[in-house]
Amino acid sequence: MSHPIDPTTTRAWARLHDLHDGFTADFRARFAADPQRAERLSFTAGDLFVDLSKSYLDDDVRDALLELAEETGVAARRDAMLRGERINVTENRAVLHTALRRTADDTVEVDGHNVVTDVREVLERMYAFATKVREGSWRGVTGKAITTVVNIGIGGSDLGPVMAYEALLPYVKDGLECRFISNIDPTDVGETLRGVDPETVLFIVASKTFTTLETLTNARQARSWFLAQLAARGIQDAGAVAKHFVAVSTNLEKVAEFGIEPANAFGFWDWVGGRYSVDSAVGLSLAIAIGPEHFEEFLSGFRTIDEHFATAPTAENVPLLMGLLNIWYVNFFGAATHAVLPYAQYLHRFPAYLQQLTMESNGKRVRWDGSPVTTQTGEVFWGEPGTNGQHAFYQLIHQGTQLIPADFIAFANPVFALVDGDADQHELFLGNFFAQTKALAFGKTLDEVRAEGTPEEIVTAREFPGNKPTASIMAPALTPAVLGQLIALYEHITFTQGAVWGIDSFDQWGVELGKQMAKELTPAISGDAAALEAQDSSTRKLIEYYRAHRK
Ligand code: F6P
Repeated sequence: MSHPIDPTTTRAWARLHDLHDGFTADFRARFAADPQRAERLSFTAGDLFVDLSKSYLDDDVRDALLELAEETGVAARRDAMLRGERINVTENRAVLHTALRRTADDTVEVDGHNVVTDVREVLERMYAFATKVREGSWRGVTGKAITTVVNIGIGGSDLGPVMAYEALLPYVKDGLECRFISNIDPTDVGETLRGVDPETVLFIVASKTFTTLETLTNARQARSWFLAQLAARGIQDAGAVAKHFVAVSTNLEKVAEFGIEPANAFGFWDWVGGRYSVDSAVGLSLAIAIGPEHFEEFLSGFRTIDEHFATAPTAENVPLLMGLLNIWYVNFFGAATHAVLPYAQYLHRFPAYLQQLTMESNGKRVRWDGSPVTTQTGEVFWGEPGTNGQHAFYQLIHQGTQLIPADFIAFANPVFALVDGDADQHELFLGNFFAQTKALAFGKTLDEVRAEGTPEEIVTAREFPGNKPTASIMAPALTPAVLGQLIALYEHITFTQGAVWGIDSFDQWGVELGKQMAKELTPAISGDAAALEAQDSSTRKLIEYYRAHRK
């Protein structure tokens, strides 16, 4: 096993320390001194226009960050990933989500086998199935076409599909809807199935491992609900489940054990991480909703950014620069969180999706060789769509004491071109998008506040310090291709950060202990006195409270 380079021992790290010591953001001065700043620090990647001029980037910082990438071997690790090397060392797996979007004539080998052939074969099966559902030739037990697709999955088997479905609602075929069940809270399955017609529903049980407690429990509940609903209508048919349940998994044996026919199972591979899987068969609900052509456009969007990440010069390589900027913020400015603020209601689940992508990937305390990390890793990603967030938490970003770098995302063209009086409503919306990064960068000085006639005792409360770093990401419209580009952008930002920190961004051992304990606690919860006695006093008290109050 190779050992990661400790970033803190590099020349670039020392240089960044010096730069940090002498750094003042002072965006007013920087923009005044350099009329070309926005021009020089704006980039394109595919359809994405990315303005980093209001970030903490300048020529010296960029050079030092790129040197850091060089010294820590980011490009070499990227190439190893793209070649299919087993860079996920703790699980001994290749990391090839990029193979999911290669074209059919491309080759990526794992153990001498071209995996692109497998990818295309599954895609073709997905497309054939999606087309049947969309055209109504896939019929339910009573001969009716499918109108509701219910995806049952959690984590990567839920967040990607639901986020992309919500993002691409304008592309969803009329008469079809998707619903999503993820939580083992019985509320989720109970509420989601309310009003669903068992004769026109299709369940997709999506689980990479097909062992996840939440998903299998919910899938069994859905099957019981389905059979009970049919029975209540006097429908008995041994083949009913086969017509209404399909699966997506890497574990086709477990799928068969569950009772789903192998012909109705869509596979993927251990070299696709759950949080990197929306463009695999895990996206089956999306493929049905938007159709094969749009799904192909979605894949082509990922591919555009993969190619950019692999080939664009480093000084213009957007995911590389944004990943390195995050290192600059986290490790030199102490930023503990990073906001992602889409000015697009359709992207309302995008921050939640990014939370798994970024935090399950880079929330690590040891490096890929098992040694402790040498600096902070994994900042908290969070966010909400604008303008809603403006009326909630932006106060803290503008005037709080924490430094919160923020990515703002917006699209030139709305889906609903509405007017309000003389005003184009999308322009009212975008006015907020443009205003926020401007206000965060340039603020409002004490003198400016005074000049407005503000009483002296509240002048400081009304001052905006400015100099808050943001990135603005724009695209012509939120199309399937642009969504693919946005996702791939963040995948590669996440990769870049993990590569500099020397961590395995593709395992997730930190989720295991809670799962194991949840299983072990079951006897104590259901009344086994000895098991209850064996708990720590806090856990015991909590379980006792539950048992005393459960009706
Ligand atoms: O518990 C974390 C996790 O393993 C995620 O990495 C994954 O996306 C999720 O659970 C669901 O796993 P599966 O697709 O195997 O059901």
